Amino acid sequence: MEITKAIIPVAGWGTRMLPITKAIEKCMLPVGKRPIIDYVVQDCLAAGIREFIFVVSEQSSQLEAYYRSNIHLNDYLRRKGKEDMLPLIAPLKANMHFVTQPSYGKYGTAVPVALASDYINMGESAVVLMGDDFMYNPDGSSEVARLIAATPAGECSILAKEVPHESISRYGAIVIDESGHFREIVEKPRPEEAPSDYANIGKYVLTKQVIDSCATIAVSPRGEYELTDAVTRFAQAGGAVKVVPAVGQHLDGGSLDGWLHANNVVCNLIKHNQ
Ligand code: G1P
Repeated sequence: MEITKAIIPVAGWGTRMLPITKAIEKCMLPVGKRPIIDYVVQDCLAAGIREFIFVVSEQSSQLEAYYRSNIHLNDYLRRKGKEDMLPLIAPLKANMHFVTQPSYGKYGTAVPVALASDYINMGESAVVLMGDDFMYNPDGSSEVARLIAATPAGECSILAKEVPHESISRYGAIVIDESGHFREIVEKPRPEEAPSDYANIGKYVLTKQVIDSCATIAVSPRGEYELTDAVTRFAQAGGAVKVVPAVGQHLDGGSLDGWLHANNVVCNLIKHNQ
């Protein structure tokens, strides 16, 4: 079955970017002239995604405002003879749902995915992508399209990249057995205990079964409800999980260093193409 839906959790407070994230939603921080989330959304559109389920915080309004039409701004641009700019502010040509994640509830990546499960039909799969980091392909190719193409029907997949050994503690480490099959993801291991240097980038194709199972995940040793535990549980019950090597550059806007780097990469390319 074709994959046409994306679940995008964006409810995090963005504490690593405070105080700006007190008033600007983390996924709306700018990279170049666009918010971070738009790099995720455009990659999805290029992959044939036509329905977005954004899992937002109770206070979220900017994300929706960005993707809806702004009649006053449209009128202003027309009055000023700047019609050529209208495509820049066109509303998103896809179905959008906004699901609210309560700020006092459970915490962890499995929580928003479970909240979105009603939007996914039986037998269907969806892509799940975090909204504050993205894969950057300057050639315009779609990482999500590659991930979907690499996922056989009824199976799950996970995008991965090799990282320097000392950095693996920032990621889930992917364990692959001798015959090349995915076994588990170990969240944020200390480098000396890491089972691999193969990092989960947090971009998945998941079946309805795995998405539903996020509601019954047990709390992890680090006190969170982990999406990666749902993926591991699926694999340990005999489900196939494909580990797909990332092609593009992984840019992360959720920390100051990551945000600066993302802006350097993207802005340099914008300037170069001008
Ligand atoms: C999540 C995942 C982790 C992954 C990371 C990628 O962690 O749980 O496996 O490596 O995203 O950014 P988080 O950064 O939400 O703590």
